[in-house]
Amino acid sequence: SPSDPDLVARARAAKEKLGDKVFILGHHYQRDEVIEFADVTGDSFKLAKDAAAKPEAEYIVFCGVHFMAESADILTGDDQKVVLPDLAAGCSMADMATAEQVAECWDVLTEAGIAEQVVPVSYMNSSADIKAFTGKHGGTICTSSNAERALNWAFEQGEKILFLPDQHLGRNTAVRDLGMSLDDCVLYNPHKPNGGLTVEELRNAKMILWRGHCSVHGRFSLDSVNDVRERIPGVNVLVHPECKHEVVAAADYVGSTEYIIKALEAAPRGSKWAIGTELNLVRRLANRFAAEDKEIVFLDKTVCFCSTMNRIDLPHLVWTLESLAEGKLINQIQVDRETESFAKLALERMLALP
Ligand code: 13P
Ligand code: SF4
Repeated sequence: SPSDPDLVARARAAKEKLGDKVFILGHHYQRDEVIEFADVTGDSFKLAKDAAAKPEAEYIVFCGVHFMAESADILTGDDQKVVLPDLAAGCSMADMATAEQVAECWDVLTEAGIAEQVVPVSYMNSSADIKAFTGKHGGTICTSSNAERALNWAFEQGEKILFLPDQHLGRNTAVRDLGMSLDDCVLYNPHKPNGGLTVEELRNAKMILWRGHCSVHGRFSLDSVNDVRERIPGVNVLVHPECKHEVVAAADYVGSTEYIIKALEAAPRGSKWAIGTELNLVRRLANRFAAEDKEIVFLDKTVCFCSTMNRIDLPHLVWTLESLAEGKLINQIQVDRETESFAKLALERMLALP
């Protein structure tokens, strides 16, 4: 539905008043009404790099979820303030790995006598605490666009990887990109004693996958792929690597949101695509490419928006920009210094990946 013209005018006016003092970042899963006001858009890797692109901006308004705003705070100067328009915009996947659970897991690995061989690799979609844990133990962060490089790097540092918190990205990258077998992977369940694994299983594993998943991408199924192939003959199935292994294995193409956009830009006229990622992005792409005669459909109509990404809407953005324009700092996301220093180490290892 079209945005309320009054709110659009207010957002415009407040943004104009703030001028160079504000820098608005928008993740690809954000609503159209929000993306319209973003100075840059991107996937989580691009936004992590772009966050520091405007050091003169006093405020960075992050239209995305909590862990992204934390990462932006870690990667930008102390005088830059990162603001999240709705503090309830979290990520259910990031919440699946708490600092206590991960510390307990490290104790389990230590008791099994393997902690020294293990390099943690944590998905961007994790709290600053988990990133700090990763940095402290010699590991790196990765996103869906550099997971293969991150795993290759980690296997140069040690024999085993503890991959947090998305089991699917970890498994898909290990099997699809590194050619490992499913038997090389074990699943660590933080709700069970010893992760639900025996010492022998831990010692034999190359990839220890944390039992976390995305509540949106995890809902696409093999049936979704089969049904769309039946419905639309000749369709290309393109999915995000946060999808289950069987979905990724059945798809034609797999990649991060930035990859998905580039693939559709390069697609020939008349081609047909079923996309397995967040609905805001898929709808935007379907509209954008309809003019080029590319048919783009959502992989499974029963899957819905990411509810936390969607919390950032035009009213929240207006409230944020108007508050900042009046000199009122609201909803600042600030990571404490100790956590920041170790988390930064892990993020910088990612940014330095070959
Ligand atoms: P990317 O932005 O890395 O594609 O990740 C998708 C996602 O789920 C972000 O929350
Ligand atoms: Fe988290 Fe999934 Fe939403 Fe991304 S799409 S913010 S991983 S719940």
